[in-house]
Amino acid sequence: MVGACPAGGGGGCHIRGAPDTIPARGGFIRHHEQYNEQLASPHYALDCVSCHDPHKRSELSIHTACGDCHEEYADAYAGTQMEIAGVDCEDCHMPYASKSAVAFSPTRGDVRAHLVRNNVDRDGQMFTDDGNFVLLDDVGRGAVTLDFACGECHRDKNPNWLAGKAKKFHQR
Ligand code: HEC
Ligand code: HEC
Ligand code: HEC
Ligand code: HEC
Repeated sequence: MVGACPAGGGGGCHIRGAPDTIPARGGFIRHHEQYNEQLASPHYALDCVSCHDPHKRSELSIHTACGDCHEEYADAYAGTQMEIAGVDCEDCHMPYASKSAVAFSPTRGDVRAHLVRNNVDRDGQMFTDDGNFVLLDDVGRGAVTLDFACGECHRDKNPNWLAGKAKKFHQR
């Protein structure tokens, strides 16, 4: 899919609706919205090809890893219990909060979100009240909530525990 997009942008095919909104439905981001999400993320200035190899058809062809640009975070995370258990940056920062065809649970769709930022509020809200859009702050940024970022793996933990552990996650 990435390979079929115009080089450098990707807005030609991975976009749905106006670029300043991110449509949602049924508690998930709708699919094919990587471009809108990208603009609502801290990576708005990057191109798809900053991370993806446009010459490979597979989405999984990532040529620049998170840690290549965020070295201090990668260093801080290295050797932690979760890193050793195989939990990657994208598991928390790009959880499956989008749905193309299948929802495996109320907080696990089948496409990774590109919002990247985490909302660490205990009662954080990811969608507008009507559920039709991702909730954006006054500068147009969205964020994934803890139910998507942590809840799938930590089903036995309550929201207070998750929020407590998520705040200042990399400074703990
Ligand atoms: C090609 C370089 C590059 C790659 C790869 C990259 N980032 Fe970033 N990231 C940036 C830049 C540039 C910014 C915006 C400036 C800043 O805040 O450091 C940013 C910002 C962020 C922020 C917000 C930081 C803040 O202070 O608000 C998060 C979170 C983040 N990136 C996570 C990730 C994760 C997770 C990955 C891997 C999926 C990743 N980044 C991959 C360059 C990159
Ligand atoms: C900061 C790095 C970064 C940028 C920028 C980025 N992506 Fe991604 N993208 C990723 C990572 C990491 C994955 C997850 C790969 C994996 O699952 O191994 C991914 C996954 C995907 C997937 C597959 C999603 C799924 O779960 O099936 C698509 C499609 C995609 N990206 C499209 C895009 C498009 C289009 C753009 C530009 C609008 C873009 N990406 C920008 C890092 C990035
Ligand atoms: C992909 C699955 C996965 C995700 C996503 C995930 N975790 Fe974990 N987490 C684990 C595993 C596996 C362990 C290790 C459990 C063990 O060994 O008992 C762990 C351990 C922990 C621990 C105890 C060890 C430590 O490093 O302090 C904390 C705290 C924790 N997770 C918090 C979080 C928070 C907060 C989030 C979301 C921001 C999160 N986790 C997201 C799988 C995950
Ligand atoms: C277990 C979940 C988890 C994993 C894995 C994880 N992060 Fe984070 N990260 C978080 C949470 C939660 C925050 C937000 C902390 C806060 O806002 O207080 C965060 C914050 C950040 C920020 C700063 C955002 C800001 O607003 O200042 C960056 C950059 C970042 N992470 C990069 C990475 C990179 C790179 C990796 C992989 C090497 C990674 N993270 C792995 C949960 C995780």
